[in-house]
Amino acid sequence: MNKLTLSVIKADVGGFVGHSGVHENLLTSAEEFLREESRDLLIDFKISYVGDDVNLIMTHKMGAVSEKIHSLSWECFKHVTETAKDMKLYGAGQDLLKDTFSGNLKGMGLGVAEMEFIERPSEPVIIFAADKTEPGAWNFPLYKIFADPFNTSGLVIDPSMHRGFNFEVIDLKKDQKIMMSAPEEIYDLLVLIGAPSRYCIKAIYSRETGDIASSSSTQKLNYIAGKYVGKDDPVCIVRCQKGLPAVGEVLEPFSFPHLVNGWMRGSHTGPLMPVPREQSTPTRFDGPPRVTALGFQINEGKLQGPKDLFDDPAFDRAREKANEIADYMRRLGPFEPHRLHLEEMEYTTLPQVKDNLNERFVNII
Ligand code: F6R
Ligand code: MG
Ligand code: MG
Repeated sequence: MNKLTLSVIKADVGGFVGHSGVHENLLTSAEEFLREESRDLLIDFKISYVGDDVNLIMTHKMGAVSEKIHSLSWECFKHVTETAKDMKLYGAGQDLLKDTFSGNLKGMGLGVAEMEFIERPSEPVIIFAADKTEPGAWNFPLYKIFADPFNTSGLVIDPSMHRGFNFEVIDLKKDQKIMMSAPEEIYDLLVLIGAPSRYCIKAIYSRETGDIASSSSTQKLNYIAGKYVGKDDPVCIVRCQKGLPAVGEVLEPFSFPHLVNGWMRGSHTGPLMPVPREQSTPTRFDGPPRVTALGFQINEGKLQGPKDLFDDPAFDRAREKANEIADYMRRLGPFEPHRLHLEEMEYTTLPQVKDNLNERFVNII
């Protein structure tokens, strides 16, 4: 059977106001472009957003890392950038790091999460999108969903999940990857993914069926560029149910607003607040970082949805807790650990400020 591909491709091509949101004209512009240009390529698409990022959610049969789909997305974001420039929106075109497209989107500035699968008799998926944070932000919830039986009871009581999952982990600095198996290797896995600014989970596979269960965007442009070029606000796709974690097990880790890197100037640690899409407006100190969850039931490639899954009072307490943590962290001002630790700050604008002090240092005798 011919596999379906689900591609989620995102970029910040202009903020409204500042870096806090997306103007609706950008969404219309993306919608019009894909409606005109994608006819033979896409089965279906939805335009979405989180904070100041526009997300293209697309289904097709071209496979992951398809030159045609990547090129279409690149052209779409270039088109949307024109609208952003006309409106003098903030940072228009900021994520389009290259002038011309050259085969695929790696290192071009756009975030990409893709997966290929045979559509099941019923295919529920959740697309997470976060603003003001980085790809490693998914490590904690993905571990909980796919490896922690205190989160996911299916790991214990569903025979088709009992064998566990395989994790593909990327070393962002070295551009290398490693496959690890849960539950046998969870201690080794945590050695790596407990350091989310360096190692992040790219994909997860069922050990029972070999099927892909999750796929995340993992680019970290600061490492590629060697300097601060903005945060790589990430997206993540998770398939649910029937041998995979239930929708409720997939959402459960977000009831705890864990600390992530990002927030103001991509240089601070703060809680990841789960919000309905409408509230994904990082206003307080450009944050706190937000995460949204859109649910779809895919039907012959058609994206039925979205259902805004954090638009639910069950997540009110997580939002309150995130506000409490935000109050606490903000009191630290420019001190670590609110400000990122020094090694991470090397990939921000800090070195430029620090360089001015170099000649004033003298040896202690
Ligand atoms: C973080 C982010 C914002 C900006 C901040 C300064 O990912 O996008 O917090 O870093 O608003 O922005 P500039 O340098 O554009 O004034
Ligand atoms: Mg921005
Ligand atoms: Mg953003």
